[in-house]
Amino acid sequence: MQQLTILELLQTKPSPIEINLSGWVRAFRSNRFIALNDGSTIKNMQCVVDFENLDEAILKKITVGAALKVTGILVESKGHGQTVEIQVSKVDILGEADPEEVKLTILSPKRHSLEKLREQAHLRIRTNTFSAIMRVRSKLSFAVHEYFQKNGFNYMHTPIITGSDAEGAGEMFRVSALDPKNPPLDENGNIDYKQDFFEKETNLTVSGQLEGETYAMGLGKIYTFGPTFRAENSNTSRHLAEFWMIEPEVAFLDLDGNMDLAEDFIKYVVDYALKNCKDDLEFLENRLLQEEKSKPQVERSDMALREKLTFIGENTFKRVSYTEAIDILRNCKPNKKKKFKYLINEWGADLQSEHERFLVEKHFKCPVILFDYPANIKAFYMRLNDDGKTVRAMDVLFPGIGEIVGGAQREERYDVLLQKMRDLEIDEEELWWYLDLRKFGTAVHSGFGLGFERLVQFVTGMGNIRDVIPYPRYPGSASF
Ligand code: 4AD
Ligand code: MG
Repeated sequence: MQQLTILELLQTKPSPIEINLSGWVRAFRSNRFIALNDGSTIKNMQCVVDFENLDEAILKKITVGAALKVTGILVESKGHGQTVEIQVSKVDILGEADPEEVKLTILSPKRHSLEKLREQAHLRIRTNTFSAIMRVRSKLSFAVHEYFQKNGFNYMHTPIITGSDAEGAGEMFRVSALDPKNPPLDENGNIDYKQDFFEKETNLTVSGQLEGETYAMGLGKIYTFGPTFRAENSNTSRHLAEFWMIEPEVAFLDLDGNMDLAEDFIKYVVDYALKNCKDDLEFLENRLLQEEKSKPQVERSDMALREKLTFIGENTFKRVSYTEAIDILRNCKPNKKKKFKYLINEWGADLQSEHERFLVEKHFKCPVILFDYPANIKAFYMRLNDDGKTVRAMDVLFPGIGEIVGGAQREERYDVLLQKMRDLEIDEEELWWYLDLRKFGTAVHSGFGLGFERLVQFVTGMGNIRDVIPYPRYPGSASF
């Protein structure tokens, strides 16, 4: 007998051949209509049982949350909302779900807040919202690989445990196998990491970029797609302590080429989602419309979800230098009326999310790529411009999200890089290999990092980054 998914059955013509379908009960009404979902699509399969001929004991076990296998034939549906349904001849209860206990969980059929769903993250995948988000997330992952593979990039696996701080920001989780209660000490009374597993201090990586650069300088074009970790105490809707980052790195590419790559890549994956996640995006769009109804008019989005995604593909990202952006911000209304939390007074100020969002959402009303930032607010590896004060950095800013991409043309000149590292007291001994790259066939090269969850947030329209990764890690939370 054929074991098909709902997704497959919905594309199948009615037929007298017996089939079976396994899934979880979403609803059971009139002792007759089971709405079964198997996760293959947002759509449920209506399974019609003949309760008069069904064992009473089995009927009682058809409850919300239970796992069933139904056997029957696929027939044209007379009801609304579906083209086919299953006329059931047999029901096997695979796993019961006690209604009294289900009542206490998010499986119970009523509206639950996203906060509540987070507390039961192991069950939230059984809701429409989360199954839609996670299917979109899966499709987007595939699109990422497809884009790079089609364009001649090699997928590179960078180490998770490293000895270096790629961003030089010191926001790392330590990795150690020492006994925390009784660590060995050196003669100065400090923990002696020479006796640790790796015989040195190690941490979880904050970015695969530095190793990525070494491979780009041999393979030409590489990309990474893996987990990264940041011990920054940011309790925001756009920060996670563990997130997935995509980092392409390309030899012989300058910053303009890097901007082209970022724009082309984002447009490709967004378009892929539009084409391959139609039902889920339709559901998420309606969810968002519902959610926004309770918000004041000014906070609602101008565009519906899919319209917003289409807009990305059809419009060129606006490229603006940091210096131009500062001029705009300094003279803008919210700055003059002191509406910003951080006022922009002079060149050199670091941009906060409120400024980025003003530029994107209010001023340009389209995605923006800011470039040529002041050297002292950016990482050590970025290429210094001839003005001696700005670096070839770029950030891609998105509506509702703020920074979605951060990247740069890398400093390829040995002496300039060494000086920079010394000025910032970055450990040259630790990064000897990174400096080596600048000694043996150095070349212009560039790359960027895209935070995968921020992309998923944008595509699904979810307001909180904790709702676009299965088990979010953030300050105070590492459950599941
Ligand atoms: O701007 P970031 O820190 O850049 C880097 O790590 C570079 N080494 C990337 C490169 O050039 N290869 O991070 C890149 C992106 C950000 O733009 C943001 O989208 C995401 O990673 N990101 C986070 N996403 C979720 N939670 C966090 N705590 C994040 N920190 C950065
Ligand atoms: Mg950044």
